[in-house]
Amino acid sequence: MKHNGLFITFEGVEGCGKSTQVRLLADAIEAQGYTVLRTREPGGPPIAEKIRALLLDPANTEMLPETEALLYMASRAQHTGERILPALRRGQVVVCDRYYDSTLAYQGAARKLSERAIRAQITFATFGLVPAATILIDLPVEVGLGRIDPIRADRLEREDLAFHQRVRQGFLDVAKVEPQRYLVVDGQEKIEELHLRIKRHVYPLLQKMEL
Ligand code: TMP
Repeated sequence: MKHNGLFITFEGVEGCGKSTQVRLLADAIEAQGYTVLRTREPGGPPIAEKIRALLLDPANTEMLPETEALLYMASRAQHTGERILPALRRGQVVVCDRYYDSTLAYQGAARKLSERAIRAQITFATFGLVPAATILIDLPVEVGLGRIDPIRADRLEREDLAFHQRVRQGFLDVAKVEPQRYLVVDGQEKIEELHLRIKRHVYPLLQKMEL
């Protein structure tokens, strides 16, 4: 997928601190004079946000894993085609809170759907787009879940501990397969230290963009 922008994604278990690091990194890159699109999955444009509501509604207890996977893909196709690719083609930086690695961890490792089937759907839904860098904020699931208000928890957050442990392991396994794309950081480090580590990884990629 040809473009002259920079696509960065963040991944991790529930409550790992992704949103804070997305905000800090996007602010820092913007302060360097770049145009940044900050976005999230599932979500982004209105159609994808509607699919997000369907996916996360705790009332949807009957949703099958296959339906869930396809809805994440539908949201991703719309988001990628309508927002992410146009921004990258304009030479912008896109910082996205979750992307397809979440499907590999949640619907693949945790829901135990076929990895082959999921990977084929990912290629279809992303038009072949691959992030230049993916930051995995690793954290013991008990710590992350402890940061979530159980009354406001969404459908996925309500899954049991074993589910979230498979998600964590799923992310670590994906990161091992593609070490050149992944930066794995310890979510128990201080926010500022994590931010510095992430900047050190991303800034050389920004410089390469200008060549
Ligand atoms: P958020 O809580 O980070 O906004 O993400 C929404 C939930 O959706 C979270 O529980 C992770 C889950 N998710 C998947 O299961 N598969 C996916 O492909 C994505 C992007 C998110």
